[in-house]
Amino acid sequence: MHLEDFLTEQWMNDHENDAVYNLTDTCVQPLRFPELLAMDEDGVLQDVLLDYGVITGDVRLKQEILKLYQSGTADNITLTHGCLAANELVMYTFLKAGDRVVSFTPGYQQFTSLPASFGCHVHTIPLKEEKGWMMEEADLQKAFEENVRMLIINNPNNPTGTFFDKPMLEKLIGYCRKYNTILLSDEVYRGNDPREVSVSDLYAYGISTGSLSKMFSLAGLRLGWIKADASLIAKINVRRDYSFISTGPLADAMAYIAMKKQDALMLRSRKIIEENKQIYAEWLKDMPYASLCMPSYGPVGFLRYEADIDDRTLALRLLKEHGVFFVPGSCFGKDRHFRIGFTRDPHETAEGLRILRNVLYELNQK
Ligand SMILES: Cc1ncc(COP(=O)(O)O)c(C=O)c1O
Repeated sequence: MHLEDFLTEQWMNDHENDAVYNLTDTCVQPLRFPELLAMDEDGVLQDVLLDYGVITGDVRLKQEILKLYQSGTADNITLTHGCLAANELVMYTFLKAGDRVVSFTPGYQQFTSLPASFGCHVHTIPLKEEKGWMMEEADLQKAFEENVRMLIINNPNNPTGTFFDKPMLEKLIGYCRKYNTILLSDEVYRGNDPREVSVSDLYAYGISTGSLSKMFSLAGLRLGWIKADASLIAKINVRRDYSFISTGPLADAMAYIAMKKQDALMLRSRKIIEENKQIYAEWLKDMPYASLCMPSYGPVGFLRYEADIDDRTLALRLLKEHGVFFVPGSCFGKDRHFRIGFTRDPHETAEGLRILRNVLYELNQK
């Protein structure tokens, strides 16, 4: 089956290394290796045996990951190479040609292009900017008029920052119960605010995926996980045996060291995100040519600009002439937008926005 090019990832691959002011990255300021080593107060790394390790993942690490959830034991978790592989594994395990899959747009392309490549019928519900990037209830109802095998959400959502709180998740679950629909929730941008509830704590067919890449600033470890009911995890593990044997004791040990400090890492990330959001909020105060629905949670937002130039052309011009880097909204099917990340050093953000401001004024004066 045909698999579409993954536009956002391709854009990042092609251009990210040219960025001087990276205003689009969604991983909160990555840690350096020595910073992680300094957290190893108990000498965990001294003891690592470089065999395959525990196949579905180090149990000590699973116990630390479980602290992000309200329920579960080690049997409710399997480890993966990042959240991307976690999502893929869930889809490979539970989807087949002809199944109906529902997701949202604008959204992460993996949720639509990958099931489409399996021969699934993919239906997307629009998130509407004029509604603060929320959906219409009528569109949700329509999506569930037929049997839905899997509903895929990203909470908070890349690129719009849309956040589904507990009542909203319960509404979605209400629809899912009609057909025992699997609810795959990519929670890679989830923080530790108690209002950021996981679907795996709410619904028997709720599958949560996550990783250390974004809020824990350790994308380089390529360490993610799936959390769900033990019977679902058992099925996933059968498929997993064909994809990779283990995430490896070294990555597991490093992830364990980091997750023992999860509160401190999360605090660091939330501080960086808040500082960046403040800078945007100030910038937008007297910026007639851009607008943003400021997300309540997570490091991602979707900036709209006003100028008579398409977003790919403008993004390339900003990068080539000024070193300012954005992923164009058209990579998510929405022109005249930039995907932004509240993730960088505030000075970098402020300088990048100063340049964007000048360029937008220039374009609108013509
Ligand atoms: C929604 C979403 N899921 C998954 C990923 C990939 O995460 P990981 O680095 O854990 O594989 C990304 C990265 O941008 C993302 O935006």
